[in-house]
Order: sequence, then structure tokens, then C-alpha cells
Amino acid sequence: MQEQTIGIIGGSGLYDIEGITDVESLSIDTPFGKPSDNFTLGILEGKRVAFLPRHGKGHTILPSELNFRANIYGMKRLGVGHIIAVSAVGSMKEEIKPLDIVIPDQFFDRTRGRINTFFGNGIVGHVSFADPVCNNLATLLHESAKSVNARVHKGGTYLCMEGPLFSTRAESHVYRQWGVSVIGMTNLQEAKLAREAEICYSTLAMATDYDCWHEEEDHVTLEMVISNLNKNAEMAKKILKIAIPKIKQSRTCICATAAKDAIITNKDIVPE
Ligand code: ADE
Repeated sequence: MQEQTIGIIGGSGLYDIEGITDVESLSIDTPFGKPSDNFTLGILEGKRVAFLPRHGKGHTILPSELNFRANIYGMKRLGVGHIIAVSAVGSMKEEIKPLDIVIPDQFFDRTRGRINTFFGNGIVGHVSFADPVCNNLATLLHESAKSVNARVHKGGTYLCMEGPLFSTRAESHVYRQWGVSVIGMTNLQEAKLAREAEICYSTLAMATDYDCWHEEEDHVTLEMVISNLNKNAEMAKKILKIAIPKIKQSRTCICATAAKDAIITNKDIVPE
């Protein structure tokens, strides 16, 4: 069996990863159009990796403009079995401080009309998504983060909002009542498409701010996000270097066979 590639999607502040050797920059066309940028292929800590900057190298693509299908399809074409997403998020809980890391295990959708499936156009499929994150990959990321002394929280709900504006205070207070842990603008569609594509997916959600609910802290600004992001990006790279060599080829998780039996079109139960 050919060795699987490990995919890394870099968010705001993470546009490349030093230390990748045998580097090749690959432009891929997909049936869904162009991914966010060229994929950087190479070897990191002895493993084959494919890196994609989510918003493009010059940060030119809004969350709502991302071609999520092209990004995940591109990963699949490159033989990716695991995707580690790195993303800036706002903290929705006091105990998650800026510069802390959360490994979410749930998502909540507050986006509007984004394309989030490979199905359609005559093929109807429904894939289970009760547990949207690969628990094996999440556990590995958690252990790797602990081993480099990051302040890390395992589990929690990532609320995915549409953006690009940050939330109003009213929204932020409601989301807190819902009990979510972090807020971001991109990860849910990636997680859905990765599951349909039978790719393991987990996120290093790097807190940059307290959104706008906190009474003693300033409300989120781009400046705040960027300044904390640069610090977070260094920590993310340390964690990736520990986690990547430990990713196992053989997959026993639900992600590996998630789309088996998912297609209803032309199944025996449907009358002709
Ligand atoms: N990314 C970083 N901070 C954020 C926030 N407060 N809301 C949405 N996305 C974010």
C-alpha cells in the first residue's frame, strides 16, 4: 500500500512551514475549481506532507469565498489520509485564555449557504456526522501539545460563523449561553467534506482573543488576532513536528469508512 500523505491546512498566520525538505509546489485543478493556493509537498519529520494555506499565501480569500471542496478534493487526490487544520479562534470561555489551544470535538453551524458536500447533481448521499472529529488524531494532537508545554484543552465546541465581520455583543453572549468553547469562520465545512472523503480531520484551534463578551478584556480586533497569531504559529509548528511522525498508516477510526453505504441513489429500496 502506498504511504499516505499527511495534510496540513494553515490558517491565518500560518502560510508556510519551515523544515519541509524535498519541497515541490504543485498546482492542482479539481472538478470544483482551484484550491486556495499551490500545495507544498515534501517531507517533514520523515513523513510525506501536503501543506495548503487556507486563505492563500497573501491572505486573499475570505472565509465565505473559500473553495472548500477544491481544497479537500486536492488533499484526497494527493493521497491524504489525515488533515490537521490550524486555525485562529476567539475564546468563548474564561478558562480558555488567548494563546491557549483547543482541540474541538464538536461543531455548531452559524454559516449561511456554504457548499459543504460532494454529493448532489444526481447522486444523493448521507454520511453520519455525530462525532465530526477523528478522535485518534485529536488525542495525538492533545498529547503532542502537552509534550511541548502548550496550554491545551481537549474537547469543546467550535462555533463556525459566516463572517467576515466579527460577532455583535448580543451574538457573543448567546453563543456563550449555548456553551460553545471557541468561535471561528472556516473549520466546519472542511470537517464535513473531509468526513465525506473519508479523511481523518482534527483542528488545533489557537485562541487569539475573547471575542467581545468579556467585561474586562478589549473586544476582538484584527490587530489583536494578528499579534497573538504570530506567537501561536510558532507553537503550532512545534506541535506538528511532534505529532506528524506518530501518525499511524493503518486507520481503525470511523473516518476511514465513513461513506461506505452512504449513497441512496439507485439502492434496492428505491423503486425505479
Ligand atoms: N478568529 C479569531 N478570533 C475570532 C473571533 N473572535 N470570531 C471569529 N473568528 C475569529
